[in-house]
Amino acid sequence: MKLNNVIHGHRSIREYEDREVSQELLDQILDAGIRASSSGNMQSYSIIATRDPELKKKLYSAHMDQSMVVDAPVLLTFCADFNRMRKWLKLNGAPVHFDNFMSFMIGAIDATLVSQNCALAAEDAGLGICYMGSTLANCDQIGKLLNLPPNVVPVVGYSLGYPAENPAPRDRLPKHGLVHYDTYQDYTDEEIQSIYEERNEKGWKRYMDNPRLKEMTERLGLKNLAEIYTIAKYTEESHHEYSQTVLNYLESQNFMRNE
Ligand SMILES: Cc1cc2nc3c(=O)[nH]c(=O)nc-3n(C[C@H](O)[C@H](O)[C@H](O)COP(=O)(O)O)c2cc1C
Repeated sequence: MKLNNVIHGHRSIREYEDREVSQELLDQILDAGIRASSSGNMQSYSIIATRDPELKKKLYSAHMDQSMVVDAPVLLTFCADFNRMRKWLKLNGAPVHFDNFMSFMIGAIDATLVSQNCALAAEDAGLGICYMGSTLANCDQIGKLLNLPPNVVPVVGYSLGYPAENPAPRDRLPKHGLVHYDTYQDYTDEEIQSIYEERNEKGWKRYMDNPRLKEMTERLGLKNLAEIYTIAKYTEESHHEYSQTVLNYLESQNFMRNE
């Protein structure tokens, strides 16, 4: 497929055929990932491809019971990784640092770029993916299950397999609401209303069209999509909790020596 068609044809896939992804195809996808730019060409990431059904069952609960984890044949977890680099530095008598927050961010960016390259290569080959925010939110549980050593932290991950659904593309905010030329132009209230106009409608309709989500919206007395986002989907309490999990895990994985 043409790259532009692959990019514009993207939809997250949450239902999968019971069909393996060959090692040859997986290698092709991973090779595309590894061609991504990385900070200083340090490639401060690792990719963990999980196929083992027993391990996927264990990861299912760490991924907040999302069915893709067990239904898709492959789960890819992209980690910020300075473990490998630090071992190499030590073997060469160089100072061994990269144990601070900046290093984590470098690894996280590298890992994310690799993940999106792999995603595009997978979609080009007719596969589907769905990112899972649980990779970071429950990085401690996932890190334990994947046997991650210090200086390795899971950042992004997704299910990978042959699609068993054909969802319509999800809307995007209009480009003029996302792009600034030269410098940032802050938004007036009117501009915000206009940028979110279609999202308000389509997002609300999506919730109302799904009986389970509609029931939840009504039970919580939510009046609009903005309330859905902050009262149902991403509550302040849950985000505080996940922040604490990530900060504690970064500390325990030796990424917080910042003094
Ligand atoms: C970092 C990240 C985390 C995500 N986490 C989840 C998730 O946990 N579960 C899920 O079903 N979709 C998840 N998604 C998928 C988004 O919901 C999806 O990309 C968005 O709604 C736009 O839809 P589209 O990908 O089909 O265009 C995640 C996407 C990203 C980039």
